[in-house]
Amino acid sequence: MLRITFCVRQDMNAASRFERKVRSSEATCRPGFKDLRSYLNRLKYPKKVGASGAIPSLAAIILNSLHTIPILIWSQLTHVLSGFRLSSSRMRVMVLTRVLRKLFPSLAEAAATLRFRTYMEDGLITRHAADFLKDKRFLSAYAIGKATGSWKNMNPRWRVYTACWAASHAVTLPGDFVECGVNRGGMALTIMEYLNFNIFEKRFFLLDTYTGFPEGLQTAAANQGQYSNCYHDVVKTFMPYRGARIVKGVVPDTLSMIDADQLAFLSIDMNAAEPEVAAVRQLWPRLVAGAVVLLDDYGGGPSYMLQKNAFDALAQELGFTILCLPTGQGLIIKA
Ligand SMILES: C[S@@+](CC[C@H](N)C(=O)[O-])C[C@H]1O[C@@H](n2cnc3c(N)ncnc32)[C@H](O)[C@@H]1O
Repeated sequence: MLRITFCVRQDMNAASRFERKVRSSEATCRPGFKDLRSYLNRLKYPKKVGASGAIPSLAAIILNSLHTIPILIWSQLTHVLSGFRLSSSRMRVMVLTRVLRKLFPSLAEAAATLRFRTYMEDGLITRHAADFLKDKRFLSAYAIGKATGSWKNMNPRWRVYTACWAASHAVTLPGDFVECGVNRGGMALTIMEYLNFNIFEKRFFLLDTYTGFPEGLQTAAANQGQYSNCYHDVVKTFMPYRGARIVKGVVPDTLSMIDADQLAFLSIDMNAAEPEVAAVRQLWPRLVAGAVVLLDDYGGGPSYMLQKNAFDALAQELGFTILCLPTGQGLIIKA
């Protein structure tokens, strides 16, 4: 076995490819084909390569190094074979994993997603990047929104982050903000904290009965008794925000209280198709180009199909498209 000694300090990268055996000044290595050029450079042109980094032509290298080629082939072969021996148990696991993946692709996908998950709450499990969970500005705004008690034991962080992202876009446009379905103000307060809303000359209209669902709505039955009277708490919560406008009453009756000519952001979260569709239909003409409409329950699953179907019909009627997000929200950008 040919042993080649060279100075590790000259090229740490090459040394690590050659098995990183020692940290001191000398290393023993078996070069591979991938490293042929740099290895031969070192062997034949140590000064030139070390000093200036210049690489001689490949033809010159081969001509000057023909005698080393058979040895290199042999060393590469033994290297590969010893690798097989060393990692045979790992190889078995790899092969088994591949077979299982072929046989049960959905199970394998679920197992991989669970294993590498970055997010698992609010009906969403994923291994995709969830960098907003490290965004200090968002986390602190979210904690303030959560403290309102709007979401009880739920943690809809991705949904709320999506709303913050959409609001940061909308705040650059002319027009005010509206939320229909505020409850104790969790979502709206997080947005206002996140954007530091007081620095903008904008109003945020906050529409809710503040006593829960009105009687007689088709989708309201399951939600009856879920929300208590919170009007006074909400007034206190939004006191620090001069742009906040709390509008108490039943949507769509109260939509006339929105005395803004232009709107940039509309958040819809009333868990009921009729007032939600009525709000978007009535406010649509006032939404500026690029304005965002966020439908909290659009893709929320079987319990929310009434809302989904109603909005799909409205999209046809008004000529917009709805992006169904993995969070369950629907996102509309006004053209
Ligand atoms: C899911 S909660 C809203 C959650 C809120 N976006 C948050 O961040 O916590 C639904 C709210 O819609 C309100 N609501 C339902 N139907 C309404 C209607 N027709 N008019 C006004 N408010 C309504 C309820 O009172 C309730 O507070």
